[in-house]
Amino acid sequence: MSDKKPPSDKNGPNTPGKKPRVKHKRTARDPSQSVKTSKGRKTSSTQWLKRQLNDPYVREAELQGYRSRAAFKLIEMNDKLDFLRKGQVIVDLGAAPGGWSQVAAKLGAKVVAIDILEMDELADVEFTQMDFTDNDASDKLLEMLGGRKADVVMSDIAPNTIGHKQTDHLRIMALADMSYDFAKDVLKEGGIFITKVRQGGTQDDLLKELRKNFETVKHIKPPASRKDSAEMYVVGIGFKK
Ligand SMILES: C[S@@+](CC[C@H](N)C(=O)[O-])C[C@H]1O[C@@H](n2cnc3c(N)ncnc32)[C@H](O)[C@@H]1O
Repeated sequence: MSDKKPPSDKNGPNTPGKKPRVKHKRTARDPSQSVKTSKGRKTSSTQWLKRQLNDPYVREAELQGYRSRAAFKLIEMNDKLDFLRKGQVIVDLGAAPGGWSQVAAKLGAKVVAIDILEMDELADVEFTQMDFTDNDASDKLLEMLGGRKADVVMSDIAPNTIGHKQTDHLRIMALADMSYDFAKDVLKEGGIFITKVRQGGTQDDLLKELRKNFETVKHIKPPASRKDSAEMYVVGIGFKK
């Protein structure tokens, strides 16, 4: 995943409850920084590396001890909609390498997280390495919740893209739909659901569904989400059965 950097061991140096901000001026690298193409490195990986090196969010994630630049997407969405609270129970779907879980745990939440990939331990985060589409995945998450209902279900799940727009769209939307089905089972009244979607066709169907079960439904593209990416997030606020 292009968002990821190698995992570190801790939740990071920030004070719990304090929202980190991206300060582009202080941390941005020279935007013209170039990467020499070495023999054997594919052009696509050279482009990826160049983008990483010139990305202020990548640099800021390193400085603030976040495992991924994706952490800032959640921080920015929370800055706007103010849904994360101390003491919440939060389910993080597609959690690795752990940026969103770190943000939630630092604000004082207890997190239950799943990813198909490994994830290093984090305080206040209970993690299972499992494919969320497995038949047993929901039961495993329910077991980890131990009878607790969730205040927030957040899904940043993204299957690897294959470059075919419509296929990529359908694959991510299938996971968003599954995330929503799971959220309906575990959310408290008044709870929050966040899921990544890709712009195009079928996201309207999901929005229609969400409007039945949430008081407010918002579409949001946080500044940390790359402008050239079709990714955006749908947030349902105020779950009602
Ligand atoms: C964009 S990353 C999540 C980044 C994370 N929110 C963070 O802040 O570090 C998307 C994640 O979805 C996971 N994923 C994709 N398909 C999955 C599946 N079927 N089951 C579980 N996780 C999946 C990927 O392994 C990847 O770690």
